[in-house]
Amino acid sequence: MDLKTRYMGLDLKHPVIASASPLSESLDGIRRLEDGGAAAVVLFSLFEEQIHREQTALLDALDQGVNSFAESLSFFPEVDFDDFSTSPHAYLDLVRRAAESTDIPIIASLNCVTSQGWTDYARQIEHAGASGIELNIFAIETDLFTTGQQVEQRYLDSLRLVKAAVSIPVALKLSPFFSAFGHMAKQLDEAGADALVLFNRFYRPDLDIDSLKVMPTLTLSNAGEMRLPLQWIALLHGRLKTSLGATRGVESSVEVIKYLLAGADAVMTTSALLRRGPDYTAHLVAGLEAWMGEHGFQSIDDMKGLLSHAKVSDPLPLERANYIRVLESYR
Ligand SMILES: Cc1cc2nc3c(=O)[nH]c(=O)nc-3n(C[C@H](O)[C@H](O)[C@H](O)COP(=O)(O)O)c2cc1C
Repeated sequence: MDLKTRYMGLDLKHPVIASASPLSESLDGIRRLEDGGAAAVVLFSLFEEQIHREQTALLDALDQGVNSFAESLSFFPEVDFDDFSTSPHAYLDLVRRAAESTDIPIIASLNCVTSQGWTDYARQIEHAGASGIELNIFAIETDLFTTGQQVEQRYLDSLRLVKAAVSIPVALKLSPFFSAFGHMAKQLDEAGADALVLFNRFYRPDLDIDSLKVMPTLTLSNAGEMRLPLQWIALLHGRLKTSLGATRGVESSVEVIKYLLAGADAVMTTSALLRRGPDYTAHLVAGLEAWMGEHGFQSIDDMKGLLSHAKVSDPLPLERANYIRVLESYR
C-alpha cells in the first residue's frame, strides 16, 4: 500500500506530521517523534518577540495593540521576555542538529506579529538546514481602527517577504477569523504559499470570579474541534495550487481518515501525542492503513479529497443548506 504524500513540496512517507509543541523542544524529543513514526516534525515556534526584543519598533507595535484599552491590559498581558526559554541562537542550533540527525523533514516555525524585520531569521533557519518554514502570524486585533483589509495585507506582506528571502517551502498556519476566508486563502495561494495549515487553535482566557482575575487556560483538543478545519479543507481542495495541512482535533485514525477524505495533503497532531506519547503516531498510521485495506484504497492519492466539495455528489451538506437541515433535524 502506498501511503506517500506530497506536502508543501516535500515528499512524506505518510501524511501524519507532529505539529508544533513542547515535544519538539529538544533534540531528544524530536528523535522520539521520528522514532514514534512522524513523517515530519514541525518545531515549536520561535516568537518574533525573541528575535527583535531590542527593537523598539516591534515593542511599540505590540504596545499599541495591548494598551488600546485599560481592560485589555489584563486580557492580553504584555510580553515578559524572561518567559521565553529558547534564544534565537539556541533555536537555530536545534534546527541544525535536528536536520543533521534525523531522516525526516524538519519544519521550523516562526510566530510573527509585524511584517518587517524577520526575514533575516528565515534565511538563517534555511541555512541551518530546515526543510521548510511554517509561519504562524497570530495577533488579536484589539485596535478598533485596523481594517480587515490591513490585516489581510499584513499576512500577504509577511508571506512575500519570507518567500523572497528563502528558497525552502513556506507554509502559513492560519486563523479562521477572516470575513471571507476563501478569498484570503486564494490570495495567499497566489502570493506563493506552499501550504496553508488550517486552523490555529486559540487559548481564550477565563475569569476567576473568586480572585477576580483573568486566568490563562490551555486545554488539549478533542475530535469535535475538527469540524471547522474539515469543512474548509473540503471547500478548498482542488481549487488552489497550495498544499492543505490539517491541524486540530486528531484523537484517533478516524480523524486522520476524515481529513484526508476532505482533501488534506497532510494531517498534524499535537494533543494526541501529548496525551499518549510520541509513539502514538505509529498507531494513527496503522489505523489509516487498516482502514484503507478494508475499503480497497491502494494509495493516499486514491482517497484524498474523495469527500471534498469539488468531488462529492451532494455538496449541500457543506453549504448553507446544511445549516437549515441541521436546525430542522432537531425536531
Ligand atoms: C502545549 C502546546 C504548545 C503548542 N505550541 C505551539 C507552538 O509553539 N507553535 C504553534 O504554531 N503551535 C503550537 N501549538 C498548537 C499545535 O501545534 C496545534 O496546532 C494545536 O494544538 C491543534 O492541534 P491538536 O488538536 O492536534 O492539538 C501548541 C499546542 C499545545 C497544546
